[in-house]
Amino acid sequence: MKVGIDKIGFYTPNKYVDMVDLAHARGDDPNKYLIGIGQKQMAVADQTQDAVSMGINATLKYLDQIDKDKVGLLVFGTESSVDQSKSASLFVKSALHLRPEVRTFEVKEACFGLTAGLIIARDFVRVHPDETAIVIGSDIARYGVATPGEVTQGAGSISVLVKSDPAILTLNDGHSAYSEDINDFWRPNDSKLAMVDGKYSTQVYLQFFENVFNQYKKDRKLETKDFDAIIYHLPFTKQGLKANRLAVEDQDETTKKRLEDSFEASKQLSMEVGNIYTASLYLSLLSLLEKSDLAADSLIGLFSYGSGAMAEFFSGNLVDGYKSQLDPEGDEAMLARRQRLTVKEYEDTFNKALEDPKDGEVLESDEVAGTWYFAGTENYIRQYKKK
Ligand code: CAA
Repeated sequence: MKVGIDKIGFYTPNKYVDMVDLAHARGDDPNKYLIGIGQKQMAVADQTQDAVSMGINATLKYLDQIDKDKVGLLVFGTESSVDQSKSASLFVKSALHLRPEVRTFEVKEACFGLTAGLIIARDFVRVHPDETAIVIGSDIARYGVATPGEVTQGAGSISVLVKSDPAILTLNDGHSAYSEDINDFWRPNDSKLAMVDGKYSTQVYLQFFENVFNQYKKDRKLETKDFDAIIYHLPFTKQGLKANRLAVEDQDETTKKRLEDSFEASKQLSMEVGNIYTASLYLSLLSLLEKSDLAADSLIGLFSYGSGAMAEFFSGNLVDGYKSQLDPEGDEAMLARRQRLTVKEYEDTFNKALEDPKDGEVLESDEVAGTWYFAGTENYIRQYKKK
């Protein structure tokens, strides 16, 4: 039975900071950010957008196209969770009016969370072929104002529907995984800002990529030239470019060009959004599908990396007619609606969002109608409202 991704929904908040503005403010050469890091813009979440609200908004992009009574599983992967105990997915389930029988929970392994959920969902649908699963990755990447990691922040969510006979991507059997207990990136319970050993993190990402990519090819008896595209977790697009260079070195010119072109398409949305941790690889997938013209049955390799660290390589084949499931105009309009913040406005918005509102304070959103947002706490219980 074929199981895989049937729908993809994407949400990013309504504010961004431009990388050239940021470079000027930090006294850096803009080309360091544009070329050296490979980012053009960075999404900024204000106090009213968090992992939960963004996850609801991403799922709403396709919710009216699915049979809600068939959803048997809802998994929420996040690094930026909102509660130490209650799963983010329960807030989502309530907002979306999913049935009480749905099995739902949150998973954590840095940026690996959506992939973990996707694999669980694939296996769930294999056992329950008449049911579907919603898997959400939703994150705000925060390193702090004027830190080295600042240019690699971002905010957004991707939600996917997993079902049998999917309309977008069939997930293939098999995977290669690799994990090691290391300290490249972590976030203590009392900190809203991530801690990172930046240079080390960029090196281990590449080592893990080589491990799982080579192992996958060996196990599946595949060669690099068999892939029509390889996509990556993109903490910033230059990182993926470095991995893709490793993938294509020593390849013939045709393979090299094909994988370079597909990488180029896959990084476009990330360049305007920034790092969205768990959802980043799937933003690459969405970008690839929207910005290239791959044929049905194309083989796509996916590299997932979560610091700490856990990596996995797996693959899928595109389903005939997949383009009809996408909404590139809608995604473009969502990016175009964003307000360009000055660096001062970004800093104020960023710092304000680090604060918890006073209990009982009611927050208002400046988003468009229909968007869900965090409206403050009542008795320290988080309240989510629709604009
Ligand atoms: N023109 C063009 N390029 C320029 C330039 C200019 N004027 N000035 C500098 N550059 C280039 C540098 O040569 C360098 O390129 P290479 O990497 O190819 O050598 C690049 O710009 C970055 O320069 P630096 O290394 O000097 O940058 P930095 O010290 O400010 O730090 C960073 C960069 C380590 C990525 C930092 O932003 C960081 O710590 N980010 C957060 C950690 C991160 O994202 N790690 C990724 C792997 S971990 C992961 O994937 C999990 C996750 O999501 C966090």
